[in-house]
Amino acid sequence: MKKFVVRGGFRLNGDIYVSGMKNAALPIIFACILNKGKNILHNVPWVSDIMLSADILRALGAKVERTSDDDMIIDTESIVSQCAPYEYVSKMRASTYLIGAMLARFGEAMVGMPGGCDFGDRPIDQHVKGFEGLGAKISFVDGSLRADAGDGLVGGSIYLDAASVGATVNIMIASVFAKGTTVILNAACEPHIADLANFLNRCGADICGAGTNKIKIHGVSELHPCEYTISPDMIEAGTFMVAAATAGGCVNIRNIIPEHLETVTAKLAETGVGVEVFDDYITVTSNNKFRGVTIKTWPYPGFPTDMHPQFSAMLCYAEGISTISEGIWEGRFRYVSELKKMGAMIDISGNSARIMGGLPLVGATVGAMDLRAGAALVIAALAAKGTSEISGVEYIERGYYELDKKLRGIGAEIYLVDDGQ
Ligand code: EPU
Repeated sequence: MKKFVVRGGFRLNGDIYVSGMKNAALPIIFACILNKGKNILHNVPWVSDIMLSADILRALGAKVERTSDDDMIIDTESIVSQCAPYEYVSKMRASTYLIGAMLARFGEAMVGMPGGCDFGDRPIDQHVKGFEGLGAKISFVDGSLRADAGDGLVGGSIYLDAASVGATVNIMIASVFAKGTTVILNAACEPHIADLANFLNRCGADICGAGTNKIKIHGVSELHPCEYTISPDMIEAGTFMVAAATAGGCVNIRNIIPEHLETVTAKLAETGVGVEVFDDYITVTSNNKFRGVTIKTWPYPGFPTDMHPQFSAMLCYAEGISTISEGIWEGRFRYVSELKKMGAMIDISGNSARIMGGLPLVGATVGAMDLRAGAALVIAALAAKGTSEISGVEYIERGYYELDKKLRGIGAEIYLVDDGQ
């Protein structure tokens, strides 16, 4: 079993480099299915979810190659219409993007139900509503979703009841070749949506409004492959900002787009930590003394749910009481029981956590239950007294590329240990 061993109490100093955005790379990788050729992607984070998506494409007939630390070549010409292996798609939420991509390219798709981090119920009703809005017939057969475009998809106006990232991605991908114009209303506005639209437009699609809550997709007859650089990962960047603030020190978080991090930056500044924003990096300076704050997670540009657990860990060390209300995932508080093993005092009531700050946390044996929960435990351990052992590294590796190595580069004492069990 793999675990991180973290010796707490060391300040962090220096430069840390952010990888490409997992949640942009995933839809872009699946969108390559549409253009039937050889795509070159740069700034790809080689995390396990990306490797899994590469395996899914290979199983469908694509050639996928890792050409360097962060480059990838995907040739989708020889993909054939078939059902992707369930053991792959069931491990990852982004495998739903296969539905939109196969439907657009082949007029049909059959995909097993997706997996991904467990935050309680993760419905796909808005994806289904979108496909149906384009004229596809949807049915559920033996635990798989079957989509059939019949005589071809036709653009329409689709209002999302929740500003879902996944549904917005899937409808954008599915509608690229649809006749006429598709309009997505109450679309997700996350930077990864804009990144996907930029990639598709580079391939010849006609999409406007991505990054706002109204996206228009004018159908085109074909796409060509392209070369594209994935945007930096705002959640990895935010995680490093919070790690620096919590452990103390002075860290430059480099290779980022600071505009994507404005709410995280504003919230950190509210705690009293020093945050300086430059063109493509942010400097966080902290003497470990900061105040409690109130946070509510919202869809972008609101405070990101994927930064909630990391802030909880930080706020255990803050002066005063903090509150975090979760507005996206009902089951996002499962990290709390683990932080309590380190001495945290957190009360959960409904979708809110009340965090009593200022208690010194002590190292403990804890387990990550999902990706960002794992990041939160690492942050808590970096500032705790003594040594922590964090299991569930496989969750952390879904979204953080070489987290231990990157953190050691700025002075953290964190080591990956595999006891082979
Ligand atoms: N929702 C519905 N119906 C749907 C889809 C979503 O009601 O058909 C609801 C969900 O229950 C949730 C809200 O809409 O309350 C938002 O869900 P969304 O569809 O936006 O989430 P997702 O696409 O499944 C992506 C990220 C998550 C991130 C969320 C929210 C990817 C691969 N995953 O998930 O990232 O938490 O958006 O920003 O992009 C992570 O990276 O750690 C992670 C979990």
